[in-house]
Amino acid sequence: MAVYEHDVLVVGGGLAGMRAAIAAQQLGADVAMVSKVHPVRSHSNAAQGGINGPGVGEDGGPWEEHAYETTKASDYLGDQDAITILAQEGGREVLQAEHWGVVFSRKPDGHLAVRRFGGMGKARTFFVGAITGQAILHVLYEQLMHPARFQAMRMYEEWFVTSLIVVDGQCRGCVALNIRTGELHAITAKATIICTGGLGRVYEPSTNALICTGDGIAQAYRAGAPIMDMEMVQIHPTSLKGSGVLITEGARGEGAYLLNKDGERFMTKYAPNMMELASRDVVTRAEQTEIDEGRGVDGCVFLDLRHLGEQLIKERLEEIYEIARDLVNVDLTKELLPILPGVHYIMGGIKTDIDGLTPLPGLYSAGEAACVSVHGANRVGANSLLDTLVFGRRAAEHAVPWLRDQKFARVPDSVVEDDRRMIRGILDRSQNGDRVAKIRRDMGTSMSANVGIFRSPDKLNQQVQNLTELRARYDAVGIDDKGCVFNTDLLFHIELGCMLDCAEMITRSAIERTESRGAHTRLDYPERNDAEWLKHIVLTRQQDGSEKMSYLPVTITEWQPQERKY
Ligand code: FUM
Repeated sequence: MAVYEHDVLVVGGGLAGMRAAIAAQQLGADVAMVSKVHPVRSHSNAAQGGINGPGVGEDGGPWEEHAYETTKASDYLGDQDAITILAQEGGREVLQAEHWGVVFSRKPDGHLAVRRFGGMGKARTFFVGAITGQAILHVLYEQLMHPARFQAMRMYEEWFVTSLIVVDGQCRGCVALNIRTGELHAITAKATIICTGGLGRVYEPSTNALICTGDGIAQAYRAGAPIMDMEMVQIHPTSLKGSGVLITEGARGEGAYLLNKDGERFMTKYAPNMMELASRDVVTRAEQTEIDEGRGVDGCVFLDLRHLGEQLIKERLEEIYEIARDLVNVDLTKELLPILPGVHYIMGGIKTDIDGLTPLPGLYSAGEAACVSVHGANRVGANSLLDTLVFGRRAAEHAVPWLRDQKFARVPDSVVEDDRRMIRGILDRSQNGDRVAKIRRDMGTSMSANVGIFRSPDKLNQQVQNLTELRARYDAVGIDDKGCVFNTDLLFHIELGCMLDCAEMITRSAIERTESRGAHTRLDYPERNDAEWLKHIVLTRQQDGSEKMSYLPVTITEWQPQERKY
């Protein structure tokens, strides 16, 4: 069995992972990246509408404004020390990306163009048409492919992490499956940075790629790292009917309307000042209310871009013009687009400090897998890309000086043996008529039905029961492919186990938080309750397998909680 050793192991090839890898290399560390997909297939690709750029010229606006709007949108659950860093250091990252070669959309005078995003008082979001994430992802990959860097970096591409290695209370890397050969290996590292993104596919429908299965969050939890704010699941107001594909908030930023079946701009009733550009949670609840009260059509409301004109639509929103044309045969210049809320983002995740460090020594996290927490109970659009770049870099900048005093640990063979036994158990199980895909779909649809936009005790308790049944089905289900080369059957099985862990954490935390805040709306507790709930919920798996639920105070520096109005 080959054993691999690196200073820094980055798990995940999206924006947070690439930014961390570049920063660690610049600091002279021996860096490796492990990713279950080719890095430019990571879900960062799907971020469409833009990246906020506080402090970038006049348009980026003062960092304080961005920090305040982020705090308000978080419904005051975001930690303000982290939010301040995001706002103060974010502009530098946007400019760095531009200098590396991201071709941001520009105004006729050559300055970077901006558009307005939800929850923001003014246009301060920089963008590349409606492919901002994809554009940044490819440029960061170019940076990693730079000969001087790439030769020095080991890329474990299409390797799947099966568990983290913890020895003597410290994270020492991971066990990973080489998908091409089916072999398991220990990849040891002094510092491991989890950048595996979110878990959107725990729900159906979702704007997320099929790979967003919460692996990193589940594996960190199993390794004993605390997981925070899991009840805070963002549901995006505009996902496409049928497929759930994201239709960027940038469309509303450019002036698109939301209409109900009567052609009414219903946001006048819910957010008369900011209308379609109120915070995401507010717009999503408004849409769902319209649908539930019979003012939708086939479970959807409509996005209307017709008045924006063909030129603007094709110049600034070309990709969603094509998505609408190709997937639902709608011409956005002439017709209404049926849309509905779709699960988009997890604000919670692996609890880290402002340097990406988790309470488990040697383990860092950044991006959507992490909970710093800058997004609190509701993330502002265009802050996710910013979060990946700022905190991906910061994690590496903290890890590299720290690891210089660290030695590689001797990793017992048993860590690989345990995972080999787990895989053998799956392969040896005979088929029982059930399917991994069916369990996954039943989990996704039941999570949406019971732990979605509006949450009630009956539904939440029902979901606890559903998850117990789903877990029993998971433990019993076999797979068809018993081979070792590119066994996607096996990967989907392991991913489903991670998703179930995440679904259980979300549901338990949602039951615990008896108030409504941001994306978490409890019908039985409709008000925000700062007296009791201005705090984070933290779940930690104990060594005996039991779970401890605890609380952490919210860090408040500047902005005292106020009533949130849009
Ligand atoms: O709507 C969007 O373009 C999504 C952006 C984001 O989630 O940050």
